[in-house]
Amino acid sequence: MAKALDGVRILDFTHVQSGPTCTQLLAWFGADVIKVERAGAGDITREQLRDIPDVDSLYFTMLNHNKRSVTIDTKHPEGKQVLEALIQKCDVLVENFAPGALDRMGFTWERIQELNPRMIVASVKGFGPGPYEDCKVYENVAQCAGGAASTTGFDDGPPVVTGAQIGDSGTGLHLALGIVTALYQRTHTGRGQRVLAAMQDGVLNLCRVKLRDQQRLDRTGVMKEYPQYPNGTFGEAVPRSGNASGGGQPGWILKCKGWETDPNAYIYFITQAPVWAKICNVIGKEEWATHPDYATAPARLPRLKEIFAEIERWTMTKSKFEAMQILNKYDIPCGPILSMKEIAAEPSLRKTGTIVEVDHPQRGKYLTVGNPIKLSDSPTDVRRSPLLGEHTDEVMAELGYSAEQITALRTAGAI
Ligand SMILES: CC(C)(COP(=O)(O)OP(=O)(O)OC[C@H]1O[C@@H](n2cnc3c(N)ncnc32)[C@H](O)[C@@H]1OP(=O)(O)O)[C@@H](O)C(=O)NCCC(=O)NCCS
Repeated sequence: MAKALDGVRILDFTHVQSGPTCTQLLAWFGADVIKVERAGAGDITREQLRDIPDVDSLYFTMLNHNKRSVTIDTKHPEGKQVLEALIQKCDVLVENFAPGALDRMGFTWERIQELNPRMIVASVKGFGPGPYEDCKVYENVAQCAGGAASTTGFDDGPPVVTGAQIGDSGTGLHLALGIVTALYQRTHTGRGQRVLAAMQDGVLNLCRVKLRDQQRLDRTGVMKEYPQYPNGTFGEAVPRSGNASGGGQPGWILKCKGWETDPNAYIYFITQAPVWAKICNVIGKEEWATHPDYATAPARLPRLKEIFAEIERWTMTKSKFEAMQILNKYDIPCGPILSMKEIAAEPSLRKTGTIVEVDHPQRGKYLTVGNPIKLSDSPTDVRRSPLLGEHTDEVMAELGYSAEQITALRTAGAI
């Protein structure tokens, strides 16, 4: 079946996580993604966190599906020529080098435009223009600089980073949207353009509600859905709110049966206002449905701690799945805390292609997260990541190089 991005060729100069997640998505949508790697070494993640000696790590394989790999020494004069040929043939160049690396290689925006005015040059950087623009950045730096860490964790503890890779994979997603948008604009203008997704900006975009809260705090000095209310104190900045729900419907993580030994025997419970009476019935506190201290959402806000403690007395008598089943019967929003082990075994996620088993010639079968975005007319089939340089000859031939030229370039160390 045809794919949404059939015919789009991507020169993938990405490494580590942020850039590769972006180009992997584009590959899943049908783009031909040609990953350019350093000869002999490749993307550093090939050898990071290895679980099998001398075999591409899961870190690499899970971020580079459906791509082709060519090895080029882009600092070698003849390697540069090969890269120029690729730039002329591709629609998009995606990179996430440290600031200035592409320029130092000789591929400035102006040079790329000379070679191919239709080329879209898309970059992930740690920061946008400003005091930190020259800094190298990894995931947790972005989480800290983008407002996630200062607003995550508990009031009496230090800032905490989250396991979700919002700095890397989150920015990759932002960049992918920028690229397809630029491709669409190019259909009218015929011109390429630069696309920048800074990791700080991407994280901040995902922390938008916390900037909302900063302004609420500045105006009123208090936020009633935060656990600091009514007994704790608010400072000048948005505090860490533990497991409180980010929205207007208070929620918290509650213990379930087995919590003493199972670190994930918990459920997220939301006291959504429209189902308050049902919640009271389920936990056996029918009187709360009409009592003036509990019947309305504003009346409940100063009593959330007591209310969640009471609900927890009920959830602790059920497993998280039992609780989920009962609560869902009454349309009470809740969610089990699922471990990665449970998620990996979940049949419905396998069925939708969100979790996929892939076969790899060196490592055998492994699980990966498939394309989370489903298009009805452009289904995703997840193919294994390429071995280092696996497609060098194939791509060189497509660029018009003869077998003799390829051998000569290889001997010269350019590819
Ligand atoms: C992630 C990061 C910190 C890694 O830094 P690093 O390992 O030092 O790697 P760099 O990006 O600086 O690139 C290293 C060098 O390899 C060179 N290189 C890369 N591919 C090459 C190739 N095929 N042939 C020859 N040289 C190559 C680059 O030109 C650069 O050389 P230079 O420093 O002399 O200019 C940095 O790339 C960065 O800040 N990226 C932007 C933000 C980002 O994406 N971070 C998230 C990572 S998940």
